[in-house]
Amino acid sequence: MIKIDKLIKEDIAQVVLLEEQFLGETLGVEMLENELDNEFMCFLSAKESKKVLGYIGAYVINGELEILNFVVDENFQRTGIGTLLFNELLNRYPNTKSVVLEVREQNEKGINFYKKNNFNVISKRKHYYKNGDDALVMMKEII
Ligand SMILES: CC(C)(COP(=O)(O)OP(=O)(O)OC[C@H]1O[C@@H](n2cnc3c(N)ncnc32)[C@H](O)[C@@H]1OP(=O)(O)O)[C@@H](O)C(=O)NCCC(=O)NCCS
Repeated sequence: MIKIDKLIKEDIAQVVLLEEQFLGETLGVEMLENELDNEFMCFLSAKESKKVLGYIGAYVINGELEILNFVVDENFQRTGIGTLLFNELLNRYPNTKSVVLEVREQNEKGINFYKKNNFNVISKRKHYYKNGDDALVMMKEII
């Protein structure tokens, strides 16, 4: 059974591996360890027994959530784990008015996911990524 919970220190190494393998960039062990208990941040993992299958990390500021990183193990993608993580993030912050994030313009899976969850593109950041790719800024408003 897959369980969504607050990320714990023991699972950070698995998260960094997931980020490196399936996202291509990582927040890094140090940042994750330092920010784990920051009240303005939320990191959730999706685990089956001790194996981390996905995770989501967000800043939480004045009713706004900003998603920093979000990844699901490729072998388990499109089975609902991303939705479980995202919904649990929203459940934990019932006063959320908006959710924002940046996504690589070429990232079809990510963009599809966010569109399905009622995000709209609000702007574009040219050459935002190290390799020159543009980022789309997407936002979901909650009324
Ligand atoms: C984006 C991501 C976290 C979604 O997690 P997930 O567990 O696959 O998502 P779910 O199974 O809950 O949701 C499925 C929805 O996401 C989108 N999606 C997921 N995988 C997809 C794929 N291979 N191709 C196209 N759309 C995809 C679709 O909208 C899909 O809905 P549908 O199956 O009804 O068409 C995951 O695909 C992932 O880790 N991608 C690589 C990293 C990434 O892009 N992260 C976001 C960066 S901002």
